[in-house]
Amino acid sequence: MADYKVVAATTFGLESVAAREVRDLGFRDVTVENGKVLFQTSEEGICRANLWLRSADRVRVEVGSFKATTFDELFEKTKAIPWSDWLPENAQFPVDGKSVKSTLFSISDCQAIVKKAIVESLKKTYKVTWFEETGPLFRIEIAMLKDQATITIDSSGSGLHRRGYKTLIGLAPLRETMAAALILLSRWKPDTALIDPFCGSGTIPIEAALIGMNIAPGMNRQFACENWPWIPKEIWRQLRAETHDVADFSQELHIIGSDINDEVLKVARRNAEAAFVSDKVHFQTLPMAQLSSKRKYGKIICNPPYGERIGEVGEIDRLYKEMGKVFAQLDTWSYYVLTSHPDFELLFKKLASKKRKLYNGNIRVDLYQYYGPRPPKRAAR
Ligand SMILES: C[S@@+](CC[C@H](N)C(=O)[O-])C[C@H]1O[C@@H](n2cnc3c(N)ncnc32)[C@H](O)[C@@H]1O
Repeated sequence: MADYKVVAATTFGLESVAAREVRDLGFRDVTVENGKVLFQTSEEGICRANLWLRSADRVRVEVGSFKATTFDELFEKTKAIPWSDWLPENAQFPVDGKSVKSTLFSISDCQAIVKKAIVESLKKTYKVTWFEETGPLFRIEIAMLKDQATITIDSSGSGLHRRGYKTLIGLAPLRETMAAALILLSRWKPDTALIDPFCGSGTIPIEAALIGMNIAPGMNRQFACENWPWIPKEIWRQLRAETHDVADFSQELHIIGSDINDEVLKVARRNAEAAFVSDKVHFQTLPMAQLSSKRKYGKIICNPPYGERIGEVGEIDRLYKEMGKVFAQLDTWSYYVLTSHPDFELLFKKLASKKRKLYNGNIRVDLYQYYGPRPPKRAAR
């Protein structure tokens, strides 16, 4: 069993949520940088991170990091990495790149040089001159940051937000990783009610149900590293069996997703079925203005229309004012509202207990967090 430096890539603003997840999974030497959480682990840990991280975008394995200010230096230092320890002879190894504040600023040149250096290194071991690249995928990234070259391999394949349940999408769907992060940030517990009154395709309620039932977010999908020869198949077999053992399918949950749009709710119901949580989430057609609950305590977590992608600006202002009045009636609840509208608090007529700057795709947004009182005792909820 070897020791690997692993990078969980995150959306900006979600590093601390992902770091909490990484620590909870028991990984060692956890450090946080912009857009990433770094940790040390084994082959098993690489698989576990892919299966269980809810808020991270992907899991990369670092193969080398060194200073490089010339293309010669980049070539020689990349070639010196024992690539045949990582890549089998038939590996597919496309090279992506990025460069920030570095002498080697041409991304396409960095990519081409790294590709050539890997080929030269592999030629020596495999004694061939041409690689067909028909086997397992090892997507490589060369990242230049202030003249430091870091080479990683993506172990996830498609992004971790692809849980495998969203065959259909709504008007402006939230990424599954972001929805999970909002729930984790709210510190929602499965014995508490959760409502998303703008649920669209159901991402927040579905992610909450997965969290509530302790279902691994990657349970129903495949990962690139499942086909890597140096990760024993037995690890995957055991970890997948464990996801079934630890899932609590009998967990009672009080999760409601509502939306004004009937059509989008059909999508939500189908997504919930595909995620095997349809009996745990109640979807209903309801304009937000009619939102109410008999429960004394709970959490509202939502991303209402922003006016950037859907909806007209005047309408949005009216909607946010209305939200302020409706949510105020649930004054013992906590609310978490994700929006890009700069005047949200003004329209909602309440200052947030805390604001968090995030990115929803390319849109700069804020998570407005309003903390309600703590429920006195479990039995009282
Ligand atoms: C940004 S989308 C939410 C996307 C959702 N989180 C998802 O993952 O698909 C906003 C949603 O609010 C709904 N909506 C707009 N006005 C509403 C209203 N007055 N009451 C309830 N829902 C409304 C829209 O139909 C849309 O589905």
